[in-house]
Amino acid sequence: MEQNTGHLYAKNFFTESNASSYDKLVKFATFGQDYSWKTKMLNKISTKGSVLDLACGTGILSSLLGKEGHVVFGMDLTYEYLKILKTKNSDYFCINGVAEFLPFKNNYFDCIISSYLPKYSNLPHLINECFRVLKNGGIIILHDFIFPIRLIFREMWKIYFKILRLSGKLLKNWSKVFKELDFLIMSTDWYDVLPKILINHGFTQITSETLTLETAAIVSAKKP
Ligand SMILES: C[S@@+](CC[C@H](N)C(=O)[O-])C[C@H]1O[C@@H](n2cnc3c(N)ncnc32)[C@H](O)[C@@H]1O
Repeated sequence: MEQNTGHLYAKNFFTESNASSYDKLVKFATFGQDYSWKTKMLNKISTKGSVLDLACGTGILSSLLGKEGHVVFGMDLTYEYLKILKTKNSDYFCINGVAEFLPFKNNYFDCIISSYLPKYSNLPHLINECFRVLKNGGIIILHDFIFPIRLIFREMWKIYFKILRLSGKLLKNWSKVFKELDFLIMSTDWYDVLPKILINHGFTQITSETLTLETAAIVSAKKP
């Protein structure tokens, strides 16, 4: 997939028309797995500090980080999603912008975290910026959907997306996402290329794990 195609998908998928239903939708569409994936991500952070939640959307992950006592900065390209985040907690620092260009000084954050960004992003630019703004010893934790590796899980995944597509007839504000998300997930190679990009940029202690029938994955790394 062309690296910048992801931005176009993101702009078409996330709009004013579906911002207010996003939180319920993500719970429904992942059968509640979203919460356990985010909990796994949070468990990788060992000390309290300043955390940048990239592609924070409506702030589901930002809220969990805030409850754990971190200083949270959220960044997202969709203004309407950030407006929902602000209704949850007006104290969070929110920036409307793209994750590949971070308006922060070098060595600023203890942690950068993100749910569902990799498939939409230009990974080399993203990782370059993350390395720059992370402190030495800081960690990066990225999570997103993947196309399952094993055949049996692939077949189950395809059935799931057929059902999701049908539910788009009822949930009109989400029909575009339900129609195109499977293609986007199949065409992204983020899970394969991200560890190599992290190594090339000088990150160490890289870990990768697949989740829930290989439908999602988390990759983490440390800036030495
Ligand atoms: C599926 S939502 C995820 C929101 C949130 N991370 C969560 O877990 O609920 C994807 C979000 O990524 C944002 N996004 C996609 N590409 C982006 C980019 N390059 N820079 C910043 N935000 C981006 C979209 O605007 C959207 O809010």
